[in-house]
Amino acid sequence: MNVKILDLTRQYEIIREKVEAAVLEQMASGAYIGGKAVTDFESKFAGYVGAKYAIALNSGTDALVIAMKALGIGQDDEIITTPFTFFATAETVAMVGAKPVFVDVCKDTYNIDVTKIEEKITDKTKAILPVHIFGQPADLDAIKEIADKHGLYVIEDACQAVGSAIGDRKIGSIGDAACFSFFPTTNLGAFGDGGMITTNDEKIATICRAYREHGGAQNGAKARFYLDGVKDELADNTSNDPLYNPYKYYNYLIAYNSRLDAIQARVLDIKLDYLDGFNARRTEIASFYEKELGGIDGVVTPQVRQGVTPVWHQYAICVKEKDELGRFLASKNIGSAAFYPVPLHLQKAFDYLGYKEGDLPVAEELTKETVCLPIFPELTSEELDYIVEGIKEFYRR
Ligand SMILES: Cc1ncc(COP(=O)(O)O)c(C=O)c1O
Repeated sequence: MNVKILDLTRQYEIIREKVEAAVLEQMASGAYIGGKAVTDFESKFAGYVGAKYAIALNSGTDALVIAMKALGIGQDDEIITTPFTFFATAETVAMVGAKPVFVDVCKDTYNIDVTKIEEKITDKTKAILPVHIFGQPADLDAIKEIADKHGLYVIEDACQAVGSAIGDRKIGSIGDAACFSFFPTTNLGAFGDGGMITTNDEKIATICRAYREHGGAQNGAKARFYLDGVKDELADNTSNDPLYNPYKYYNYLIAYNSRLDAIQARVLDIKLDYLDGFNARRTEIASFYEKELGGIDGVVTPQVRQGVTPVWHQYAICVKEKDELGRFLASKNIGSAAFYPVPLHLQKAFDYLGYKEGDLPVAEELTKETVCLPIFPELTSEELDYIVEGIKEFYRR
């Protein structure tokens, strides 16, 4: 048997008929950028997460950059975040000119340790940027309480967490802005790059829309008013002719081109209908792993915080013999992955921040011990049996 860490071709077969029809229709329509395909998907996504506004973009990385720009974050600001995440979380903080300030994580959930946030707040701190890592929501209630007390924004890196929830509130409806990725390997993956910001704040939404598209036209004019208080008559002009909108060429901000393609919006719109089903299957697989692996001496399985619904973007176990286990599984043709081998505070790119080994011990330990197992929804029970048998065999030796 050969079990890959992730096989996207299987999901393609499930959705093939609908997606191929939609993509062909979109190609024949002549509308490739923006338009109804994108606004329909934005509305559907906003409805799904329970946010008032959704702004489709071309990646999760851009979502983080644009959310921070929209909140006025820039030079000399400090943003508190986690070192146990994908590089883009903190890279984007640096890209907007701000300084990432890392806070250690909890060993059992891999999420930012909220008890250690306040000691890192200074008069330069502008926002807290938690990551719902591996699909498990961070402790947003505690984070929001701290943020409110100190007058900070909460920007969520929800790139791995579409569909997850705290109680009955979906991730994407709680912070000032939440950033999603539609990278193909995420739970809601496009056929290429894609991203989304959700927010309940009309001003933030408008500024994000302006940053998405060269700071031009009415969104640009409104954004300038919101950011600088400078009113322009175009802010009240509603001309929105998609083919010939002269106002498109009036620009108000130095911004980006970060639009989601119409074809990707059609694909994602269809896949969103399947998301809850796919996430439910991931949950089933996680329960199976917990049942089979939870009792093995030497294997620490992931713990779910009370009251949250994770979406199991990854299933990460902690073992002392990380490399040996990975190699053993590979010898049995079982895919696994080491997310993440280097905590962000020790990444070479962040040398200039001056962190050293030992500064954030829990994150450092996790990077040495984490092995992620296959958890995509289309895994068969035979494959799952084969995976757990492989791990059991390793620990029997
Ligand atoms: C936690 C996290 N943040 C940000 C990103 C960046 O998203 P994208 O690849 O869509 O730019 C990712 C992508 O994997 C991620 O996992």
